[in-house]
Amino acid sequence: MSTTTDGMPERHAMGKPMKRTEDPRFIEGRGRYVDDFTLPNMLHLAIVHSPYPHALLKNIDSSEALKLPGVVAVITGKDLEAAKLAWIPTFHGYDKQMVLAVGKVLYQYQEVAGVVATSREVAHDAAELVNVDYEPLDVVADPFSAKTDKTILRDDRENKTNHIYHWEVGEKDKTEAALAKADVTVKDRLWFQRCHPAPLEPCGIVADMNKATGRLTLYMTSQAPHAHRTVVSLVTGIPESNIHIISPDIGGGFGNKVPVYPGYVVATVASVILGVPVKWIETRTENLTTTGFARDYHMDVEIGASKDGKLAALKVSTTADHGAFDAAADPTKYPAGMFGICTGSYDFPVAFTDLDAYFTNKAPGGIAYRCSFRVTEASYAIERSMDILANKLGMDPAQLRLKNFVRKDQFPYKSPLGFVYDSGDYGPTLEKALKQIGYDDLRREQAEKRKRGELMGIGISTFTEVVGAGPSKHFDIMGLKMFDSAEIRIHPTGSGIIRAGTKAQGQGHETTWAQIVAEELGLDPQKFLVEEGDTDTAPYGLGTYASRSTPVAGAAIAMAARKIRDKARIIAAHLLEVAEADVEWKDYKFQVKGAPQKSVTMAQIAFAAYTNPAPGTEPGLEATYYYDPPNMTFPFGAYIAVVDVDKDTGSVNVRRFLAIDDCGTIINPMIVEGQIHGGLTEGFAIAFMQEIGYDKDGNCLNTNFTEYLVPTALETPHWETDKTVTPSPHHPFGAKGVGESPNVGSPAAFVNAVIDALSPLGIRHIDMPLTREKVWRAIRDAEATTAKA
Ligand code: CDP
Repeated sequence: MSTTTDGMPERHAMGKPMKRTEDPRFIEGRGRYVDDFTLPNMLHLAIVHSPYPHALLKNIDSSEALKLPGVVAVITGKDLEAAKLAWIPTFHGYDKQMVLAVGKVLYQYQEVAGVVATSREVAHDAAELVNVDYEPLDVVADPFSAKTDKTILRDDRENKTNHIYHWEVGEKDKTEAALAKADVTVKDRLWFQRCHPAPLEPCGIVADMNKATGRLTLYMTSQAPHAHRTVVSLVTGIPESNIHIISPDIGGGFGNKVPVYPGYVVATVASVILGVPVKWIETRTENLTTTGFARDYHMDVEIGASKDGKLAALKVSTTADHGAFDAAADPTKYPAGMFGICTGSYDFPVAFTDLDAYFTNKAPGGIAYRCSFRVTEASYAIERSMDILANKLGMDPAQLRLKNFVRKDQFPYKSPLGFVYDSGDYGPTLEKALKQIGYDDLRREQAEKRKRGELMGIGISTFTEVVGAGPSKHFDIMGLKMFDSAEIRIHPTGSGIIRAGTKAQGQGHETTWAQIVAEELGLDPQKFLVEEGDTDTAPYGLGTYASRSTPVAGAAIAMAARKIRDKARIIAAHLLEVAEADVEWKDYKFQVKGAPQKSVTMAQIAFAAYTNPAPGTEPGLEATYYYDPPNMTFPFGAYIAVVDVDKDTGSVNVRRFLAIDDCGTIINPMIVEGQIHGGLTEGFAIAFMQEIGYDKDGNCLNTNFTEYLVPTALETPHWETDKTVTPSPHHPFGAKGVGESPNVGSPAAFVNAVIDALSPLGIRHIDMPLTREKVWRAIRDAEATTAKA
């Protein structure tokens, strides 16, 4: 670590690009993932999947599979019914999902049976021998045909309709009246396609029921181990104290590893029945076809404005495809997540949004893929529509934005859809981006190129996020309030251990959590062990997703450290032989007021806490804090993409991409930059390559990495990044989340740039992904229309 001029370790850790503590372990292949756990007598589980998207399940014949040497058991939905585990609640609370199909299957690849065998290979071979008799049924392939209710999918539900729920917020009549009298309106249907986080490591579990001790240990890919422990206890009746969840190293989660999936449940049931450990490791195809899809919102966005571009009203009506079960992991009171952030960074006088969700014959999900529960959809809707409006007004899209931003003096700002934005300073952030990218020069270059018939585009996205779920009065998952927690123990020699209710999947918590404590206590960040993901040791927390870790657990860590500092003050006074009121915390140590040469460091205090405690105080130096955030945090950014489109082939070259992010106080700028690079790469993939598509018969079209593309270093553009810093006024050290901002903000910038390039051809919008073929076809269609005219 770096040192100060007096040779002491540099204790002031906040804001320093400290190298990631966890990286040597990963670089040297010493990470420990679920599949690395091999226990004595362990068996392996493979799942039998339905080839049909909708069919009656007439019979399951396991006899051939059971004959294969090494096969121990075949588990079906009927077996689970006997154990009262055929259905489990989804994380949305009011719906349930089948674990293994009973009666019928509702989507292609649905889990139908589980085969347990002595090796993974035998289990998979035997899965192919399970003979299932299906009777195909009519398919509901999209939410618009679901609306007719001709084929009812969920006959297990009381209401015989495919409609799941209606949700709305805002002032409908006033919004419609304002739209009716606006000078200019735009109205477009924008589809945010179904996509998938596709983490490098798919889901997996090793379930180990020890019948001698009665303890169930689950090594699992879990972004929320404590919540999973509670769910397992509620569903199985096993006392929570006898359930131990260990979430070891995780190779990416992005929301995919929040829900409870059938593979986890079947492996657990198998271990409970057989009394030996059972491992299930998902295949890539299983991951893409059955778990954790994201988005799939069809959004009708309408904006009204004056002729000179002052925004008058926003209305967004969404039709949502939830697949066969409503398993969207949203807080109970927010069935459409944080979609109400769709007014974005703009001061709309009035707004209204509503949403209708439908069951279809597709896999369940609707997870918050690197996004605070539907913020990405909302951000795309508003940022894309602002460009459509600018085009209609004949106004520069940057000027339209600058004219309508919520001003700095309006914060805390109550949006017409109910959120109270904590802080922001949008104008200067966009102006910084415009200057840095050389916006005026680029527009001049574009004008020149247009004269020559060349297609160059510039796309802007100035998004606002809402992260840090969340205040307990509004936020819960299945009733569990969304606080988070930290426990810090300082050892006698000034090192320590930090435990948190979060669970990183690559975000670098082992580094940044130590930096927070180091900053608060003046200790060496490299002398802290950070432990997450073990429910026997970590304090109860709601886990890591939706960029909630820094706003919630980061705050809990700071508050726990401050509790330690309060106790340390008593010990400092004792050591300095002065009254407590006479010591002050300054320059990362306790000093006697007015006599700074008389001081003690936290390391000295830690030693005294165990060797020379202050009379009347408890020995030791540790604290626990449960933090209930007073509000969400509202990070924001200004992104600009510059693209060139080849008219003949439809191929798009992202020439430049600048991301200016504002996540308040930054703990580690290197980690933040890494988060932004990763999220931009995902946003790029969504904009140009990725869709989990289905044909009209309900067949999934993107079932592996040759059909669902993940960008390599070759396709990925060079990212330019910078920042502004607008601290959160309510967070203990002013931080907002950042992990998801680039995924939330970037798709609109890419699409805006491509459509800007194509606008001279009269092209108004193309739905993502903007594949080369789609762009090529749009250009040809536009040319054909012009030729006809
Ligand atoms: O919940 P999750 O960890 O995915 O997201 P996050 O809170 O946005 O944090 C992602 C990583 O960036 C963590 O290691 C944070 O501590 C770090 N970060 C930071 O250094 N400064 C911030 N203001 C926000 C996040």
